[in-house]
Amino acid sequence: MANSDFQSFLDEVVMKNDIVDIISGFTTLKRSGNNMMGLCPLHNDKKSPSLSVSPDKQIFHCFGCGAGGSVIQFIEAAMNLDFMDAVKYLADRVHMEMPASRGGGDKQKQLMLSKKKERLYKINAMAARYYFDNLSKPEGRAGLEYLKKREITNQTIRKFGIGYAPPGWTSLIDHLKGEGCSEEDMFDAGLIRRRNNGTYYDAFYDGRIIFPIIDVRGNVIAFGGRIIKDGTDAPKYWNTPETLIFKKKDNLFGLNIAKNDKSGRLLLMEGYMDVVALHQGGFGNAVASLGTSFTPEQARLVKRYAPSAVLCYDNDEAGKKATMRAGDILFDAGVKVRVLTVTNGKDPDEFIKNKGSDMFSVLIERAEPLIEYKINEIREKYNLNDVDDKVDFTGEVSAVLAKVKNPAQREIYVSKIADELKISASGLMAAVRESERSIGAAEERRNEVRRTRETYRRQGTQSGGRGVWQAERFLLSLMSDAEVVTADFVKKGAVVIDVGINRVDGKIFGDVDFENVVKKAAKSGIEPADFVSDPVHQRLAELMFELSKSGKMPEAADIISRCQPEDAGAVSVILINDKSTRDKLAASSQPIEILVAAKEKRLRIKADQSGDDAELYRLFEKKKERKL
Ligand code: UTP
Ligand code: MN
Repeated sequence: MANSDFQSFLDEVVMKNDIVDIISGFTTLKRSGNNMMGLCPLHNDKKSPSLSVSPDKQIFHCFGCGAGGSVIQFIEAAMNLDFMDAVKYLADRVHMEMPASRGGGDKQKQLMLSKKKERLYKINAMAARYYFDNLSKPEGRAGLEYLKKREITNQTIRKFGIGYAPPGWTSLIDHLKGEGCSEEDMFDAGLIRRRNNGTYYDAFYDGRIIFPIIDVRGNVIAFGGRIIKDGTDAPKYWNTPETLIFKKKDNLFGLNIAKNDKSGRLLLMEGYMDVVALHQGGFGNAVASLGTSFTPEQARLVKRYAPSAVLCYDNDEAGKKATMRAGDILFDAGVKVRVLTVTNGKDPDEFIKNKGSDMFSVLIERAEPLIEYKINEIREKYNLNDVDDKVDFTGEVSAVLAKVKNPAQREIYVSKIADELKISASGLMAAVRESERSIGAAEERRNEVRRTRETYRRQGTQSGGRGVWQAERFLLSLMSDAEVVTADFVKKGAVVIDVGINRVDGKIFGDVDFENVVKKAAKSGIEPADFVSDPVHQRLAELMFELSKSGKMPEAADIISRCQPEDAGAVSVILINDKSTRDKLAASSQPIEILVAAKEKRLRIKADQSGDDAELYRLFEKKKERKL
C-alpha cells in the first residue's frame, strides 16, 4: 500500500473517531471556551483539570504531563499501545479494515521500526528458551539446585519460563550467533553489553536465575536475573535496561498470567520471588512492579484488569514507604486499595514458606483499606495521651481524610477518630475541610509551577531569545489555524488586513488564511530553516511549507498525523492554541518581521565572522531601510 493511501486511511480513522467521545470514556470533559477541559487520565491529575481537548481541531494536549496529539496518540498513551495497535483499535471501533501493508517515506521508518521490534521479540524468546534449557543441562546444575533450595517446583519453573545463565562471558552470544542473530540486535535487546573497545559480553555473566518478563500479549520483553552466589558485591538483581520494546514503567511482572485471574483483584508484590511463590501457592493474581517504584502507568494497567488491588510489600521501612507511595498512585487511578501486612517473615515468599497458603489467605482477608492503614501508621508515631501529640495526629489524619471524597465514608472515619480522640466530630470535620482547601491550593500552585517549567523547558532549546521563540510559535499557529483566528475577529467587525498582525480592543486580527501566511513568510525570505528556536518548530515549519503547496487548509489532526510521532505532544501545544496561549502569543505582534530581523542578525554575525565586509555593509543598510 502506497504511503499516501495509508495516510488517507489514517485520516479516515481519525475522522471517524471523535476525540471528545474517545476521551470522555476516560475522563469527564467540561466545555471551556472553544475547548473542553478535564482531569488528565494520563497522569495523576487530581484537582485542577490540565487536559485540554479541542473538538474543532480534534486534538488534545495536557499542560500537566505534556502529552498531546490526535485521538491516536491519546489511545496509545491511555491504553498503553504502540502506534499501529492504537490505529487498529480505533479502526476496529468504527468497523474499518486495517490495510494489508504499507510503505514509503516517513511510514517506511515506522515499518523499519516495527520490523526491528519484531526481531527483538524474537531474539528475547530465543534467549528465554536458551536460559530455560540450561536448567536441564550439566552447566545449569547450580541454577536448578538454587531453585530447589527455594522450593520452586518444576511446574512453576515451566509456567514462568524461569531459566539460568551460568557464569561466563559469551555463552549467550555464542548460542544466539549460532541461531543467526546479530550482535547489534542482541545489544539492542539489552541481552549483551559493550566494552569500551567495542567487543561484547553477556549481560548476565555471573551466574543468575533468569526471570523472563512477558507482556500481556505474550511477548518476552526483558529479563530479571537474580545472582545465586551469596556475598558478592554484585547487585542481587540485574534487570534488562530500557529498550525499544521494554519500558519498565509500563509493565508488571506476572501480569501475563494474572490477567486471566477472575477474582477482580490483583496482589501487588515487591519482588519476582514473591510473585513466583504466590502463584505456586495458588494465588494466580500476584504481580510485581519491576524493581522500580510503582508508576501511574502501572496503576492504569492494574485498573484495566481489576478494580481492586492488595499491596503486599515487604514488612520493613522501605516496604512501608513504597506502600504509601503506590497506595496513593493506585487510589488516584481509581483502584480500590487495601494493604496487607506480612507478619511472619520479611516478605510474602517467606511467609508462605513459614505459614502456608491458607494463612496467607487470612492475611488477604485481613488487609486494611488504604485509609485505615495510613491512619494506623500515623497513630504509631504518636502518644495520644499527650495533648501536643494529639494535635499533631489530628493534623496528619485530617490530611489523609481530606482525600476521602465519598461523604458517607468520610463521615464514618471522622466520627470513629473523633470518638477515639474524645473530640467533637464537627471540629474534626472542619479540620478535614480546611486541610482539603489547603491541599487544593498547593496542588493548584504545583500545577502552575509545572506548566511554567514546561514552557521554560521548551524554551530552553531556543536560540535567538524569547521574542523569536514566541514569534515562531505564533507564526506556526497562524499557519495552521487561520480560520479560528479570522472567524473570531471578523465577527467582531474587525477590518481584515494582512498577516502583519493588528489589534482592535487589545485583540489581534488579520487576514490570515492558510496560504497567505506561508506565502507571505516565504515572500519575506523566511524558510523552514529560519525556525531556529526549537527543532520541533523547524520540523513543523517544514511540514506546513510542504502542505501549503497543495493550497488546502489542513486540519489540526491531519497535521499531527503527518508530523513525526515523537513531535505530537509538542506540536499539539502549538496547534491547540487555546485562549490563554493565544493571548500570550499575541504579545509578539509581528511574527514575520521578528523572524526576518532575527535571520538578518544571524547573517550579520556570519558575515562578520567570515570577514565579508561588503555583505555586512549590505545587511546594515537593509536594517536601516527597514527602520525608516
Ligand atoms: P527483594 O530483595 O525483596 O527481592 O527486592 P526478592 O524478589 O524478594 O528476592 P529474594 O527473595 O531475596 O530472592 C524486591 C525487588 O526489587 C528489585 C527486584 O525486582 C526484586 O524482585 N531489585 C532488588 C532489583 O531490581 N535489584 C536489586 O539489586 C534488588
Ligand atoms: Mn524475598
